[in-house]
Amino acid sequence: MTALGGLLGPPLLCPAIIPFAATIAVPDLLPCAMHQFSQLPPLGLYIHFPWCVRKCPYCDFNSHELRGELAETAYINALVDDLEQELPRIWGRSVNSIFMGGGTPSLFSADSIDHLLSALRARLTFSPNIEITLEANPGTMEQNRFAEFHAAGINRLSIGVQSFQDGQLERLGRIHSSKQAIMAAEAAHKAGFDNFNLDLMFALPEQNRQTARNDLSTAISLSPGHISYYQLTIEPNTLFHQRPPELPDDDLAWAMQCEGQSQLAAAGYTQYEISAYAQADRQCRHNLNYWQFGDYLGIGAGAHDKITDMAQQCITRKWKLKHPDAYLDKAATARRVAGSRILQTADVTLEFMLNALRLTHGFSASMFQYHTGLSFSHIEETVQKAESKGWLYRNNGHIQPSEEGQRFHNDLVSLFLPT
Ligand SMILES: C[S@@+](CC[C@H](N)C(=O)[O-])C[C@H]1O[C@@H](n2cnc3c(N)ncnc32)[C@H](O)[C@@H]1O
Ligand code: SF4
Repeated sequence: MTALGGLLGPPLLCPAIIPFAATIAVPDLLPCAMHQFSQLPPLGLYIHFPWCVRKCPYCDFNSHELRGELAETAYINALVDDLEQELPRIWGRSVNSIFMGGGTPSLFSADSIDHLLSALRARLTFSPNIEITLEANPGTMEQNRFAEFHAAGINRLSIGVQSFQDGQLERLGRIHSSKQAIMAAEAAHKAGFDNFNLDLMFALPEQNRQTARNDLSTAISLSPGHISYYQLTIEPNTLFHQRPPELPDDDLAWAMQCEGQSQLAAAGYTQYEISAYAQADRQCRHNLNYWQFGDYLGIGAGAHDKITDMAQQCITRKWKLKHPDAYLDKAATARRVAGSRILQTADVTLEFMLNALRLTHGFSASMFQYHTGLSFSHIEETVQKAESKGWLYRNNGHIQPSEEGQRFHNDLVSLFLPT
């Protein structure tokens, strides 16, 4: 039996750290003979950094307030130990993208990141135009740190801004001011990053349409190549869940989203996913690979992965111990793994839809076959049902979510639950 649980709730921010095992309870059976993969999908590498200066009250990521000194060297060594044990699963494949996410990877020194990248280069084949992203918090900026990250080989930054209003930043428990956020974007340009993202959230406490517009105008004025515009969601196990702030209602949130889309489009940012907007050629290749149901290896505390196994004709998932202390302790051993499983056909279809239907261009039949190893006939009836509801439509060989399909993404994906 497949249970959706939290899978359809929050926006799928980072599949590599979403607890699939906790949300889809499917017994681990033999691989399904129905899958026929003719080719391996592209491969990315996700690396999780689990510490932050302070835990934000809305955040349910695997991030832990840093107490005492940062275990920099030990953690980098643990990541390398973890990777070495995973290498047999990806022999012979090249890596198209690396994403260092958190938590707050920018807490780590450029020396540590440099050391990690050297270790990765020695063990993996990097694609010629590999994208290497590091998430940065404007409150952890030291003079020259961005330039040093760039020199180490990071070629894309993702800066967590959330809002450009100081009162709002305080309500969100952020450790930085609006001025520091602006300085971080300017420093990114100055350090030579021609490709960086700003994360903003909307539908925030006390926000109105004008203040939402102002946040986007400031972001656009800083000329990032990419803007992520997330609707704030209240997640279980967060302070906001215990003491919910008053938020804009659904209609106002939807109005903010639609106005945001127009404002971003007018400024040259094309939406390609529910929350992602990019200038030409500045889409996030790493996240795009998640949404297209590509493969990714995951290392670090709580990291999840998804790897296609050609020999067994199946897709496997593995996830690591979540708590940084436990992970550090076990990283050199098999016990760093918290769980693993083979995806059953029903999971594969559902997970593909959860991801691909976030993309404005949706997917094609051949893309479905390539990434799932399943025939399109498997989902044809359900696709037709979604078309008859007006949630999906066909466009140049692509099956795309309509505006209503995007708005009611969860209902749309629910159609693909096994009956
Ligand atoms: C894992 S966080 C990492 C960024 C970095 N640690 C920071 O916050 O500066 C990635 C992004 O997810 C978004 N996010 C986190 N929790 C969210 C929530 N409950 N609702 C909507 N977006 C959220 C924020 O925009 C955040 O920048
Ligand atoms: S800084 Fe980022 S990862 Fe850390 S708690 Fe805040 S939103 Fe979460």
